[in-house]
Amino acid sequence: MRKKITVVGAGQVGTTVAQLTAYKNLGNVVLIDIVEGVPQGKALDLQESGCLQVFDGIVTGTNDYKDTANSDIVVITAGVPRKPGQSRTDLLAINGKIVKSVTEEIMKYSSNPIIIVVSNPLDAMVHVVKKVSGLPKNRVMGMAGVLDAARFRTFISLELQCSMVDIDAMVLGGHGDSMVPMPRYATVSGISITDLMSKEQIERLVDRTRNGGAEIVGLLKKGSAFLAPGASAVKMVEAILRDKKQILPCTALLEGEYGWSDIYFGVPVKLGHNGIEAIIQLQLTDEEKTAVDASAKEVKEMIEEIDKIL
Ligand code: APR
Repeated sequence: MRKKITVVGAGQVGTTVAQLTAYKNLGNVVLIDIVEGVPQGKALDLQESGCLQVFDGIVTGTNDYKDTANSDIVVITAGVPRKPGQSRTDLLAINGKIVKSVTEEIMKYSSNPIIIVVSNPLDAMVHVVKKVSGLPKNRVMGMAGVLDAARFRTFISLELQCSMVDIDAMVLGGHGDSMVPMPRYATVSGISITDLMSKEQIERLVDRTRNGGAEIVGLLKKGSAFLAPGASAVKMVEAILRDKKQILPCTALLEGEYGWSDIYFGVPVKLGHNGIEAIIQLQLTDEEKTAVDASAKEVKEMIEEIDKIL
């Protein structure tokens, strides 16, 4: 039977997720939004590209959560972007309420979905979904590390002027300024970039990775990145639905790993049919541990803040 993938939020990221999911023939796609007509229009438009891009899936647009019944995977992209002058706490409260209500609606009609959260502030939003859904920790995760690592990989490729195909990278931590790109684990055909670049070059690429989201916002002026974020979420969907057992950086619930508990945090995980099937523990240097702890502290504070708000 075809898998059912629900995408909540028919905005920039949600539309990209729906499109790539359909084009990769991963299953039937349901696109849902609060705005009437938009998910229906985009779904029909996407369906009409099916004979050109050759996919078999049915794409449905809706405002009714009944149509999401029995979803295998739900990707949550609903939310509002941060407006000029708005505090982080205000955004946390607004998107926290949206993500809470979306999760309640999803859980009314799907008893055991895997949920991938994309809405920001990411680490806090995944925490909300876990708490509200009551799903086991392997079935609730956030998309951040795949995107951050893709940016790091891109910048390495541009710097070394070599194919991106052979480049791999790992980024740990929260999805924000405190994220921890890991040069030791960034490789080109197995060769660490620490052997291929100077310290200064690496520092520059690490900084650019940390500011990757802001760099796109600065260029677009309106809205934020959506093509690479959408592609990153679909990479996770594919790893799960095709039971690939891929090791990818994802936002997972820590229970003692890396010395932290009860926080959603970016770490390498194994993604397969059961969602997060394992968390990989890396041996960190003192410097890396300090950076990871600083990021975890920030995430913990944000999670405590959202718990007080909701
Ligand atoms: N239920 C369903 N959809 C909702 C709800 C809700 N309660 N509230 C808002 N939405 C929808 C909006 O109507 C809009 O179509 O979420 C969509 C968000 O789309 P965009 O504004 O285009 O934002 P986008 O760029 O897609 O980003 C979505 O992903 O990367 C993150 O930071 C980003 O949190 C943001 C999210």
